[in-house]
Amino acid sequence: MTSDLRSDESLVAASGAGTSGEAWTVMALLRWTTDYFAKQGIDSPRLDAECLLAFALDCDRVALYVEYEKPVVEAERSRFRELVQRRARERVPVAQLLGRREFWSLSFEVTSDVLTPRPETETLVAALLERIASSPESTRVLELGTGSGCIAIALARECPRLEITATDISDAALCVAKRNAARLEVADRIDFRRGDLLAPVAGEHFDWIVSNPPYLARDEAETLPPELASEPDGALFGGADGLEITRRIWQEAPAALAAGGRILLEVGLGQADAVCGGFRGVGLSNCEVVSDLSHCPRVIVASRA
Ligand SMILES: C[S@@+](CC[C@H](N)C(=O)[O-])C[C@H]1O[C@@H](n2cnc3c(N)ncnc32)[C@H](O)[C@@H]1O
Repeated sequence: MTSDLRSDESLVAASGAGTSGEAWTVMALLRWTTDYFAKQGIDSPRLDAECLLAFALDCDRVALYVEYEKPVVEAERSRFRELVQRRARERVPVAQLLGRREFWSLSFEVTSDVLTPRPETETLVAALLERIASSPESTRVLELGTGSGCIAIALARECPRLEITATDISDAALCVAKRNAARLEVADRIDFRRGDLLAPVAGEHFDWIVSNPPYLARDEAETLPPELASEPDGALFGGADGLEITRRIWQEAPAALAAGGRILLEVGLGQADAVCGGFRGVGLSNCEVVSDLSHCPRVIVASRA
């Protein structure tokens, strides 16, 4: 490869074989792109390069290693180049470029209308499933702010006896959630409703209420990774201190909990104490803090007596 391919301006030119006449193989493209992404400050340059190249070549990542020496033809390079540009210059997250993200070992459609499912949210799903297993008679689950539908759909797939209602304020997000539910064959098991937090379920009672609310602080927006600009504001920010929606949930949700019902709420870093205090303040008890795989307090569980 020639050195001119390493500059940002020459990215467009990188669709052609090196001017030295050397062919662009899978290996050469991966090396060049990893280096380019690293220089652009992308966090996981090699992984992102592999995911995007596998997508452009319509194969899985393992296949790249089997075909390391294979030349990549112009049509494939052109598709790859477009993805590389959007990742590096516009900072579009890989999940949105691919249009999908794995969560709970299921593949979810992801668009700019929904929060990309995060691995730490699997802690919430696991915490609920663990507790539901020892309460076979409690079946009614409400999810607040379903987004892509990843939590409700993972629960429906794991536990057929659950009757799940999932709400979101965003029509566009609910469209994505419904498509995911249909593709993952649980559409008839989840009642999706649009509206502000508990408004769509007024007067109803649930054994379990779960939510991963928007919990980033608007005051810290400047310090956040540029990739977040591709996700909906309403899925990210919980007011100036991050707790605006969470606070409303701990105030409003107890009225919708059946006797003995429990609430599980995902929290951001440094929010666990405030949320436990909030739950106790509205009369909920047995507050537990569940940590994620990075040992960060991630899910708060509390019960209605
Ligand atoms: C952090 S995202 C969580 C999405 C998904 N449950 C997940 O865990 O990936 C929060 C979701 O809450 C929704 N939301 C924000 N404010 C809301 C409100 N007042 N009422 C209902 N949903 C709301 C957003 O549209 C977004 O889909």
